[in-house]
Parts: sequence; C-alpha cells; structure tokens
Amino acid sequence: MGIRLLSGMQPTGMLHLGNYEGALKNWVELQNSGKYEMFCCIVDWHSLTSEAEDTSDLINKVYDLAADYIAAGLDPEKTTIFVQSSVKQHAELHLLLSMITPLGWLYRVPTYKEKGEALGLDNYGFLGYPVLQAADILVYRAEVVPVGKDQSPHIEITREIARRFNFLYGDTLPEPQALFTKFAMIPGTDGRKMSKSYGNHICMGDTPEIKTQKLRSMFTDPLKIHKNDPGHPEECPVFLLHQIYNPAFQDIYEPCRSGSENWGCVKCKKLIAEIITNHFMEFRKKREELLADKAQLNKILKAGAEKACAVAEETMTRVRKAMKLFS
Ligand code: TRP
Repeated sequence: MGIRLLSGMQPTGMLHLGNYEGALKNWVELQNSGKYEMFCCIVDWHSLTSEAEDTSDLINKVYDLAADYIAAGLDPEKTTIFVQSSVKQHAELHLLLSMITPLGWLYRVPTYKEKGEALGLDNYGFLGYPVLQAADILVYRAEVVPVGKDQSPHIEITREIARRFNFLYGDTLPEPQALFTKFAMIPGTDGRKMSKSYGNHICMGDTPEIKTQKLRSMFTDPLKIHKNDPGHPEECPVFLLHQIYNPAFQDIYEPCRSGSENWGCVKCKKLIAEIITNHFMEFRKKREELLADKAQLNKILKAGAEKACAVAEETMTRVRKAMKLFS
C-alpha cells in the first residue's frame, strides 16, 4: 500500500506559481514515485478560521483548488482527493483532541500571534487551527506530511497531541513525520517572495493576457534604468524567473550585464512572459475543462470522500474505544 501520506491546502482561490513550485509539484512527484498512499485534502473548514463572515465564494474556491490539484497532475485514480468538510470524522477528532490540548501549546504557535495580529483574529476556531490540522493528519494515521518549513510548528504540535493522546489512552495515533520540500524562492512581481497576501502573485490559471500583464509590471534591477545601462542579473527578480523557467537563461546573462546588446528589461520580461505562458498552457486547458464539468468534479470529490471516510472511520472506532466512550 505504501507509506501513508496526508497533505492539504486551504481553498483561497487559484494557486499561484509559488504554491505550485513549493508544494503541489512535489506532491505530484511523490504520487508518481509510487511509494506513497496519498491523501490530498482541500481544507475548507480551515479557511473558515479567518473567512467565516463571508462564505459566499467558498464553494467556488473549493472547485478551483480541486481543478488546480488535478490539472497539475494529481491523479484521482492514484491519490485520494477530497474536501475536509465531507469527512465529518475530522470534526469529531478535532473536538476530542481539543479536550486534551493545553491552551499554552496553542498560544505558543507562531502563526497564532502573527496571523492573528495581522488579520485581527480572535475567534475560538482560529486558536484551534492547529488542533484541526492535527485531526486532519491523525484521523488517517498518516506517517508523513509534506509541508514547507513554515508549517513545522503545526507538525510539532500534531506530534505532541498524538503523544498526549497515546499517554492518556494507550497507543492509538502514530506520530507523523514532516517531509520538508526544498525549492527555489519564487519571486512575486514586486521582487518579494510570491504570496497572495502581498498581491504580487501570478496564478497558474491566469489567462495568458493576465500573466503577461502582471509580468510586464514586474520589478527589475533598479540600477538598470535605460536599456543600455549595465544590469545586475543576480539581483533581478526577473532573472530569477528565467533561471527557473528558461532553460537558456544563461544566454541573457551577458547581454543584460554588459548593457551593450540592447537587451533591456522590457524585452527580457516579454520573453519570460512567453515562456511562462507556454509552460502553463496545457495546465490551463486541463483546468478549464475540469471546471466546465462540475458534475465530473463532484464525482471525483465524492469518490475521494468515500475512500477517506473509510479510513477515518476506522481510526475513530479505535479512538472511541481507547477513550472508552459510549458508542
Ligand atoms: N496549515 C496548512 C497550510 O496553511 C494547511 C493544512 C491544514 C494542512 N491541514 C493540513 C497541511 C494537514 C498539511 C496537513 O498550508
């Protein structure tokens, strides 16, 4: 069956290049290695921890993420793709784990302070975000969780909660391991790390026109003002994109640096826009096809939820028994 793996993303709208290079691309590789029994979740309840007051677009965002997952290469035949809210066992385990999780552990999670202050969040569900994430993972008794380094405190607390459960009620929930992904920093249009919260992102599903427009406005080397000024490619975010997406990136290094061959930033950005547009052309087509057939997407998500439920219910049977609950 392979090593059991669980991962998830919040449905926050179309994925951007940073999400893809930093996470999804790696999931597809893990899937194709054939070594894992994969569960990929769309964590819609998690997005309610910050977005509960306006849920009008949540379903569309769920479909967007499902289409992004599949168009990027997650194969529903190989990977169980499902929506968190379709598997009620996540909520049951979340509740039970909340009873044995000290508040101090939750106040200490860095995202609680940082994101809470930045977004002015003080609701109960937001404090419990890591407990819900622990439930997502533990309800499948997942052995590994592929995540970025920023998620390390969440995996750590998941392990602590599992240990505490096992100490109180006997060995039931295995402690998962984080599987950290190495990847290049993807710069956004303002040169900072690509992030939806900075508004500097380019989505894989953006139309060629929008991709081109965003890339045309991208920051470049601030010292290269005229096209014949000598450039500093190693400090230019556009050159970083060339290094990632343009196999012939070395060919533009000298012309940019010397400033002598009329290689200006406008041309350079036009070229990267063409390359990135082509790179995601197939992806975009697939994504559009998937979104045009919601019945088919629903079928995939329903089949995923059924498979996920079977595993989650087996865990919950063990959990209820370990806790000596009425059942
Ligand atoms: N907290 C994760 C993020 O922001 C999303 C997430 C929720 C998750 N549940 C999970 C990731 C379970 C991995 C496993 O990216």
